[in-house]
Amino acid sequence: MTLAATLKESTGEAHKKAESTDLQRLMMQGQLEDQLFTSYMAQLFHMHSAIEQLMGANAGAAALIRWTADQEHSKRLAADLGDLGTSVDAQPLLKATEAMVGTIKSLTAEDPIALIGLFYVLEGSMNGNRYIVRALRHMPGGDRCGFRYLDPYGEEQPAKWGAFREALDSFETTEAQSELVVRSAHAVFDGIAAICEEVMAVETVPNA
Ligand code: HEM
Repeated sequence: MTLAATLKESTGEAHKKAESTDLQRLMMQGQLEDQLFTSYMAQLFHMHSAIEQLMGANAGAAALIRWTADQEHSKRLAADLGDLGTSVDAQPLLKATEAMVGTIKSLTAEDPIALIGLFYVLEGSMNGNRYIVRALRHMPGGDRCGFRYLDPYGEEQPAKWGAFREALDSFETTEAQSELVVRSAHAVFDGIAAICEEVMAVETVPNA
């Protein structure tokens, strides 16, 4: 099986679990409180920033998936938070996020190829995010936000995802590396599920 197919198949259950967390369900229904949404976006900012820094430091791994600056989604998150009257710094950094960033660093330290599995989950999530945006436009403040993060590519989304999958299948990996890529993808699914849970549990900071 190719790497793209292996990743999709082996994370199918994890996807179902992530999709059904309270936060994702409320977001999909357009009923997630504004403050919870911005807190979640800030946590994603920290994850993306960590991955982007490591992509920069490990150009070989980044080149394998033809990673470009257009995939620096942290910039989109910062702009969206600004639209919503807040900023990354104004949002709490949650324990689950700190743990996730630690995991991102330690998996990459094992072998930078881990970055491919880590980024796969976030880039893949754009497939569903496009639909979530439609619901979010109706939330309070929804009309103030461009949702650059959740819908980064617009009509180009299917082509971009196709190109990403093609890149995943364009290089050879050892068995140990494939195992690490899949393990890294699972770590992101688990980390996001934990972040979603903590976002829902923590008292949020009112936005401007
Ligand atoms: C309400 C929440 C969500 C919905 C409705 C949703 C929906 C979708 C849909 C429709 C696809 C495209 C499936 C296909 O064409 O084969 C997809 C793909 C994907 N989603 Fe989600 N998703 C949600 C949440 C998430 C979350 C929270 C994550 C990450 C933590 C995630 C990660 C992915 C990944 C990695 C893929 C690509 C799978 C592959 O083709 O390899 N999704 N999602």
